[in-house]
Amino acid sequence: MDAIVIRRGETAPEIVGKPRPDPGPGEALVRTLRVGVDGTDYEVIRGSHGGYPAGEDHLVLGHEAVGVVAELPADAETDLEVGDVVVPTVRRPPAAGANGYFERGEADMAPPERTVERGIDGAHGFMAEYFTSPVEYLVSIPDDLAEWGFLVEPISISGKAIEHAAASRSAFEWTPESALVLGNGCLGLLTLAMLGRRGYDRTYCLGRRDRPDPTIDVIEHLGATYVDSRATPVDEIPEVYESVDFIYEATGYARHPFEAVEALAPNGVAALLGLPDSWAFEVDGGRLHEELVMHNKALVGSVNSNRRHFAAAVETLADLPSWLREDLVTGVYGREDYRRAFPDTFDGDERTIKTAVEFSTI
Ligand code: NAP
Ligand code: BGC
Ligand code: ZN
Repeated sequence: MDAIVIRRGETAPEIVGKPRPDPGPGEALVRTLRVGVDGTDYEVIRGSHGGYPAGEDHLVLGHEAVGVVAELPADAETDLEVGDVVVPTVRRPPAAGANGYFERGEADMAPPERTVERGIDGAHGFMAEYFTSPVEYLVSIPDDLAEWGFLVEPISISGKAIEHAAASRSAFEWTPESALVLGNGCLGLLTLAMLGRRGYDRTYCLGRRDRPDPTIDVIEHLGATYVDSRATPVDEIPEVYESVDFIYEATGYARHPFEAVEALAPNGVAALLGLPDSWAFEVDGGRLHEELVMHNKALVGSVNSNRRHFAAAVETLADLPSWLREDLVTGVYGREDYRRAFPDTFDGDERTIKTAVEFSTI
């Protein structure tokens, strides 16, 4: 079967032939429909995040997948049936075996050394004609969402981060009215839509692009204000617009968490999602420390998501307006055309938002 991989020492994905995987005990065989590409995939391709499976010279890419159950284990304790459309979660136990995080269904809370991540760190991903997975890591979705199912994983990431940020404000009456999303990639734009539906009165989204640009069109169609970081850096947002109750960082730009402390309103919280490269720079740590303390502000890091977040994400995906799904997904390419799904690597159109590789159809 065909698989899209990054080889050790290379800087661009390639398509290779691999044997179709045989499901082990308790595992389903899944026929892949589509696999999305996100900012993390480029970090994996560049070698700045994640790693190869032990002893292997390549990593099958892809962690945002949707597929159809092709085979189930005979003795499987599952409600799944052959033909069901499913989305796989990303984390799996490390070689040492399952630990408490997995036993509690909270693999998303495991530190990196207690988990592997399919398509990212230490385990092959889903960008192949077939993949296998223990049945407990497959979440079923309605057939009519199959073509958009690869958006479930990123939506689940935002659902978890928003939940954790809100939990950090649960000890008092917190009634957030304004939100700022840092980053106009797919994760930022999906989150902007999610926040709009959670009743925020005023939403902002930060980018660094000139008009016309499809991401700015989406921001404005969602009723949010586009903020250009080249004209208004994050710490100047209170002066130009307002201090905000909630910030969601999805740029991976390492100055943003510190600038966000200045942009938060008293009692506000910023969720940090980005995966930056190492970068040393100067900040006034004393000032930030005092600002966090004296205004009861919080910074909350958030990574990955668990089954519960995936299940909630399926509902969120069904609720999103169809124009949004269509505008966000700027290209779905057959595997022979996979290079077009990686425009940042292969010098493609920079006006893409979300791309995916299609392996088969329902
Ligand atoms: P993406 O497509 O690369 O989006 C990042 C966006 O941020 C880009 O549109 C980029 O603008 C913009 N940006 C970067 N620096 C900026 C700056 N200084 N000012 C204004 N805009 C800036 O990535 P994504 O898929 O949306 O993901 C966002 C980040 O979250 C990545 O770092 C990714 O690795 C991470 N992530 C984390 C999790 C988690 O579980 N924590 C899950 C998914 C993704 P241009 O396109 O114009 O350069
Ligand atoms: C993935 C998460 C993963 C994180 C860190 C993100 O792009 O969506 O599932 O935990 O990267 O590797
Ligand atoms: Zn991701």
